[in-house]
Amino acid sequence: MPLLSVEHVTRRFGGVVAVDDVSLGVESGQIAGLIGPNGAGKTTLFNLITRLYRPDSGEIAFDGESLLRTPPHRIVRRGIARTFQNVELFPSMTVLENVLVGSHGRGGRSARELLGELGLDAVVHRRAAGLAFGTMKRLELARALASSPRLLLLDEPAAGLSHEEVEELGALIRRIRASFDLTVLLVEHHMNLVMGVADRVHVLDFGRKLAEGSPAEVQRNPAVIEAYLGSERPQHAPA
Ligand SMILES: Nc1ncnc2c1ncn2[C@@H]1O[C@H](COP(=O)(O)OP(=O)(O)OP(=O)(O)O)[C@@H](O)[C@H]1O
Ligand SMILES: [Mg+2]
Repeated sequence: MPLLSVEHVTRRFGGVVAVDDVSLGVESGQIAGLIGPNGAGKTTLFNLITRLYRPDSGEIAFDGESLLRTPPHRIVRRGIARTFQNVELFPSMTVLENVLVGSHGRGGRSARELLGELGLDAVVHRRAAGLAFGTMKRLELARALASSPRLLLLDEPAAGLSHEEVEELGALIRRIRASFDLTVLLVEHHMNLVMGVADRVHVLDFGRKLAEGSPAEVQRNPAVIEAYLGSERPQHAPA
């Protein structure tokens, strides 16, 4: 049984069907990629899983139990953490304080240990607001890990990072999967990153599930290539 299972989930906003009858499963321990052109419904799916939005229909289950009866503020306690497409930190708090507020009383590593593992030792007492962008993204990841999640949802963690930072991020995602015993669902436009770290890739287009497979299978799928080449972001065509 998959750790996360999304079954026939639909969510509309007015006339837009942001997520249209999507089904996917993420096996425990997997790094799963979720890709698709702009507006495909990737972030909406994250917002449905974390219960910020309610599906119009369909079922979402985590560890065999429906999430739809779990209120949004209990999602972290169920073991699901996320980072946001637009970095969301507490700017006036220090790095350490940002991680402490992320812990939600769930056990696991101490905040200091976590910051060490993510290479943030040197900035522990700096205010979040003054950090370099790449450091902020890493801090957001540390904060998500502070709740000792079983499932980590990453929404474009590579966006805005330098080439070197993206390479480090790939290695970091693999390392934290192993050392935190995590399952990861990764939304990314950065194809080299997704194809390099994902065990399985799910593709959305206009809210619908377009394809699913290994990175190699997805990259040579004509429908996937067409969806990217037909979009306004050909630079994000699978490499
Ligand atoms: N709260 C909302 N109200 C109205 N429309 C929304 C809302 N959230 C998402 N949408 C619409 O749903 C569709 C899917 O948006 P979503 O943000 O999920 O796409 P995405 O795949 O994350 O795109 P991107 O790669 O650009 O981040 C878009 O048409 C978007 O405008
Ligand atoms: Mg998005």
